[in-house]
Amino acid sequence: MKKRNTLLLSMTQTSIIEINCLNNKPAMKLFALLPMLLGFLAIGQSNAAVGTTHLLCYYDGDSFIREGLSKLTLNDLEPAMQFCTHLIYGYAGINPSSNKLVSTNEKRDLDLGSSLFRSVTGLKKKYPALKVLLSVGGDRDAPEEENSKYLTLLESSNARIPFINSAHSLVKTYGFDGLDLAWQFPKNKPKKVHGGIGSFWKGFKKIFTGNHIVDEKSEEHKEEFTALVRELKNAFRPDGYILGLSVLPNVNSSLFYDVPALINNVDYVNLHAYDFQTPVRNPEVADFTAPIYELNERNPEFNVNYQVQYWLNNHAPASKINVGVATYGRAWKITKDSGLTGLPPVAETDNVGPAGLQTQIAGFYSWPEVCAKLPNQANQHLKGADGPLRKVGDPTKRFGSYAYRSADDKGENGLWVSYEDPDTAALKAAYVKSKGLGGIALVDLSYDDFRGGCTGNEKYPILRAIKYKL
Ligand SMILES: *[C@@H]1O[C@H](CO)[C@@H](O)[C@H](O)[C@H]1NC(C)=O
Repeated sequence: MKKRNTLLLSMTQTSIIEINCLNNKPAMKLFALLPMLLGFLAIGQSNAAVGTTHLLCYYDGDSFIREGLSKLTLNDLEPAMQFCTHLIYGYAGINPSSNKLVSTNEKRDLDLGSSLFRSVTGLKKKYPALKVLLSVGGDRDAPEEENSKYLTLLESSNARIPFINSAHSLVKTYGFDGLDLAWQFPKNKPKKVHGGIGSFWKGFKKIFTGNHIVDEKSEEHKEEFTALVRELKNAFRPDGYILGLSVLPNVNSSLFYDVPALINNVDYVNLHAYDFQTPVRNPEVADFTAPIYELNERNPEFNVNYQVQYWLNNHAPASKINVGVATYGRAWKITKDSGLTGLPPVAETDNVGPAGLQTQIAGFYSWPEVCAKLPNQANQHLKGADGPLRKVGDPTKRFGSYAYRSADDKGENGLWVSYEDPDTAALKAAYVKSKGLGGIALVDLSYDDFRGGCTGNEKYPILRAIKYKL
């Protein structure tokens, strides 16, 4: 709680100077003018920074082939383009036998045949300032146990060559402006939590991190990734293509990214600082999935600020760092033993909550799906699994929102959801501004309320809230 005022400080500094000026006696006016002028200069500078703040919007091509209301067509996509500086199309993958960058198998027809690649880059005709990038990996290329293709490719410089050539050729052929390297490095193993509710509250000491080694060869892979980035940048330089980096959720930056060695060869770094706790990773305890600041001493690294600070401390320029913001929530089933308050961390949870009606992914709700569960006209008289959740905002502005419904007498229908809404997303944009960072990377347009069904018929409310703050 001590850190609460740091955000406010930078905002109020200039007004303090002005107040001081007003209170000074006439004789002091000249002296008073100096800080005032400096104050104006500072304002001028921060205004200049506004123009360069980036809003990188991820667009998952799979949303084009979803069923029902979650299907997002190019017509649905267009209203977002006035707000995004970059559109990042996801996701291409690696063919493990050729080491080439390819359209992922399920989507081959979509990307190339029906040419979604070209339609997406074609949006630049109407929005000439828009940069359109192709993203590789992004946790979407084959199941996790096969992830090693991302490591074996790194391990030989011969394997890197076809990757680099095919990446350059895909970018060029389809008119992309560059590549977003969302490399699928192995993730941290989730922390285990033991004990019933009593022992849980008694101490966080029971949590043990385990000595699990994420990757025995992480030092080598780190060096090799730096080489890949350098080689890609060299291949891209003649055409001026953008090369960006995405650090995926729960990938430990200190294991895989040599920040000083690679930062000069990338145009930006998207820190996907969300999904720190999820019902899949942590089925027995529910907690905020993407807090800005440290929740408590249990998980000092599981917040936006830690991730940002890590890159800044390793000499990444602030202007290259973008904070990843998710447009969805994560839902745990809560039990009778979870208690009635909903106050996180919520113990004795029972795995993922039921799938959303539209997205159909267990324990995962898009913003319109979360929104429909919050108290509204349609659900005010409903009971059981259809009844409204109780919404709990975040007056501290540090951790995010959650909503929940305690389990009933039979132990059923308990649900706890941690989510991002337009207000909390705006707080992250304010954080980005106060730290002078590059911008926000929004993941994903297809999970924002692109139909505008939730609040006041406004399409893309999370995207808009961020844009207005940046
Ligand atoms: C990340 O790796 C460092 C060692 O490089 C380790 O000290 C730290 O605990 C790891 N973080 C997590 C969340 O596993």
